[in-house]
Amino acid sequence: MTSPFPGLELLATAVLVLDDRLHVTYANPAAETLLSHGRKHLLGSALGRMLPGNDRFIARLAQAVADDTGFNENELALEIAGQPAMVHCVAVPVEEGDARLLIELRELDQQIRIAREAKFLEQQQANRELVRNLAHEIKNPLGGIRGAAQLLERELPEPELREFTQVIVKETDRLQSLMNRMLTPHRLPRIELLNVHEVMERVRTLLLAEYPGGLCVRRDYDPSLPDLPGDRESLLQAVLNVARNAAQALDGRGEMTLRTRIARQVTIAKTRYRHAVSLEVEDNGPGVPDELAGNIFFPLVSGRDGGTGLGLSLAQNYVHQHHGLIEFETAPGRTCFTILLPVRSPEQAGLARHSTGKATP
Ligand SMILES: Nc1ncnc2c1ncn2[C@@H]1O[C@H](COP(=O)(O)OP(=O)(O)OP(=O)(O)O)[C@@H](O)[C@H]1O
Ligand SMILES: [Mg+2]
Repeated sequence: MTSPFPGLELLATAVLVLDDRLHVTYANPAAETLLSHGRKHLLGSALGRMLPGNDRFIARLAQAVADDTGFNENELALEIAGQPAMVHCVAVPVEEGDARLLIELRELDQQIRIAREAKFLEQQQANRELVRNLAHEIKNPLGGIRGAAQLLERELPEPELREFTQVIVKETDRLQSLMNRMLTPHRLPRIELLNVHEVMERVRTLLLAEYPGGLCVRRDYDPSLPDLPGDRESLLQAVLNVARNAAQALDGRGEMTLRTRIARQVTIAKTRYRHAVSLEVEDNGPGVPDELAGNIFFPLVSGRDGGTGLGLSLAQNYVHQHHGLIEFETAPGRTCFTILLPVRSPEQAGLARHSTGKATP
C-alpha cells in the first residue's frame, strides 16, 4: 500500500492521523517506533488502546475533533509503552476522507539527548587531538632523557650523586607509563555476546573488595535486558572507571546504586536506535565540582589528589568503540553517570553468527 502522505514517511517525528472516533488512519514509521506497535496493528485501532494510561490526553484529542480545533503543547507528560515520556505535541484539524486530526509527537528527552550528544562528540574530537599531541610531544624526548641519565650515572665520580640520576630515570618511567595509559592500547576488540549484568556484578565485587566496610553497593537491575555484542574487557574497564570514581567521591563510605534499564528511541552519533541498554552508577556523594563539570571527560582533568584524570576519558573511548555514550547528572547528594549502549544486532557489531558446521544442501 502506498502512503497517503509520502512526505511524512521520512520524518523523524511521529505523525498519526485520526478519524472522528480517534481511530488511527495513518501512522508514519517514527510513530510505529515511538508507540512500539507495527503499522498493521495501529491502523484501524483506537488511539486510546495504543496509548493506554493517557485518558486526559485522549479526552483532549476528542475535544479537538469535536471542536474542529488544534492545539500545541510543549511539555506533555505521557505514558508510552509503559514508561513516562515528555513530548511536544501538535494537533491540527484536517478534513481529508476519514481523517479529522493530525497529531505530531516529538519526544523531548530525545531532543535534549541529541543536543548533549553533539557536545560530547565535539569533546571526543578535542580529547583525541589533545592526547595525540601531548603523547607525541612528551613521549619522543623521554627515551633520550632516560638514556642520557644512565650514561651520566656511569660517569659520576661519587656514587652518592647517583641518587639524582635515579630520580630522573624513575620519573621518566612514570611519565612513560602515564603516556602508555593515555594512548588506548591498539589491541583489536574481541567482540562476543555479553551479559551486562555479569559486567556490573564483576564491578560490584571488585569495588567491595577495594572498599571493605563502609561502602554499600545496591543493585537495581532490569532482568529482561538483552545480551549485547561487545568487548568484555573494555566494557568492564569503562564501568569500573566510572564506579571507582563514585567510590572515591564517597571516600569509601556511602551508598552507590548500580542500575540497568532499557532506553527507547536513542540517538547517538546521529544514528537513531530503537533501544539502548543504560548502565547507571549513582552515588550519594558530594557531586562533581562545578568548575570541573564541563571538562571531566577530557584527559588529565582531575579533582582528586593523586588522580591522573584519565579514567573517564578512557571510559568514554571504550564506550565510544561500542557506538555508545557516557553522560552524567550531578548535584550534592546525587550523582548519576549513565553509560548508554545501543542495542545492535551481532552482525552490525561485527560478530558473525556461529555456523553449525553442517553443509547446507
Ligand atoms: N561520582 C563522582 N562524584 C564526584 N566527582 C566525580 C565523580 N566522578 C568523577 N568525578 C570527578 O571527575 C574527575 C575526573 O575523573 P577521572 O576518572 O577522569 O579522573 P581521576 O579519577 O581524577 O583519575 P584516574 O581515574 O585517572 O585515576 C575526578 O577527579 C572527580 O573530581
Ligand atoms: Mg577516575
